[in-house]
Amino acid sequence: MFDADDFIEDMIVQMRDQIPGRAIIACSGGVDSVVAMVLVSRAIGDRLLAVYVDTGLMRKGETDEVRGMLAELGVNHRVIDASDMFFAALAGVIDPEVKRKRIGEAFIRTFESTAREFEADHLIQGTIAPDWIESGDEFRETIKSHHNVGGLPEDMELTLVEPLRDLYKDEVRAVARHLGVPVSERQPFPGPALAIRVIGEVVPEKVSIVRDACAIVEAELELAAERGVMVRPWQYFAVLLNTQSVGVQGDRRAYGYTVAVRAVDSVDAMTATYSHVPYDILDRISLRITSEMNDQVNRVVYDITSKPPATIEWE
Ligand code: XMP
Repeated sequence: MFDADDFIEDMIVQMRDQIPGRAIIACSGGVDSVVAMVLVSRAIGDRLLAVYVDTGLMRKGETDEVRGMLAELGVNHRVIDASDMFFAALAGVIDPEVKRKRIGEAFIRTFESTAREFEADHLIQGTIAPDWIESGDEFRETIKSHHNVGGLPEDMELTLVEPLRDLYKDEVRAVARHLGVPVSERQPFPGPALAIRVIGEVVPEKVSIVRDACAIVEAELELAAERGVMVRPWQYFAVLLNTQSVGVQGDRRAYGYTVAVRAVDSVDAMTATYSHVPYDILDRISLRITSEMNDQVNRVVYDITSKPPATIEWE
């Protein structure tokens, strides 16, 4: 049986031993990285710098929210705008594995230059068990390279420390509750962010479409859960497909994008079942996406596949 208090106590001691000097932590604002950040900050105080990278691939309002949270938690932190660099790294890339590797590399190069300035030699990451299990190793086949594992370049200058490596999501949430951090119930969001929710080449215009669609899906499902119409799914988002299809707008032909809505229930992300979202909620989502984004999107579909055989994200 997992004991969050014991884990916290042991990990603070371990982190103090493992990090004699300065360290930086890649903090995305998600539960994994925030928990790792708070643990290490309790262990080494101001010898830790938390770095939030604005990749240009984050959700609506996310950068400002994370900035506010970091300030509130009182952790030494820096917000870096690297969106041009990420879009340049992704230009022309279609293959999901190449996307993940390019993103991993862009993150590490950003961390390396910040670490040099801060004179840090350790990099902390909030990697959890499913991340490395699915990224594969000599015993396991790669399902997908989680950007914080399989996407790391081989010539990295920093020593990697991963305090949550052996934990599953439900255990991380238990630790988050014991630490009293404000993100314990946040839905998971992948490190490569909206880049893996745009099928095909990632360009600012498509990221902006999927960002708006994700915001609608999140708002409608959260509202439905608040009203007690359904239980909030474990994870819920939109994916922009690289297919265009024919539609009608007024009396004119339209040729627009398709958005897939995904909502799943899971415990540890290793398996998941698609959520049975009531039809009237799906109606609202479809209506809002196709009316508020009618210049770009003319078709909305609901993904009714579980994991396996699918994965939660599409890439
Ligand atoms: P999949 O798509 O493999 O996702 O079923 C399992 C869970 O992990 C999230 N995910 C990631 N998280 N880095 C992360 O930190 C990644 O590269 C990554 N890829 C997927 C996904 O959102 C789901 O919660």
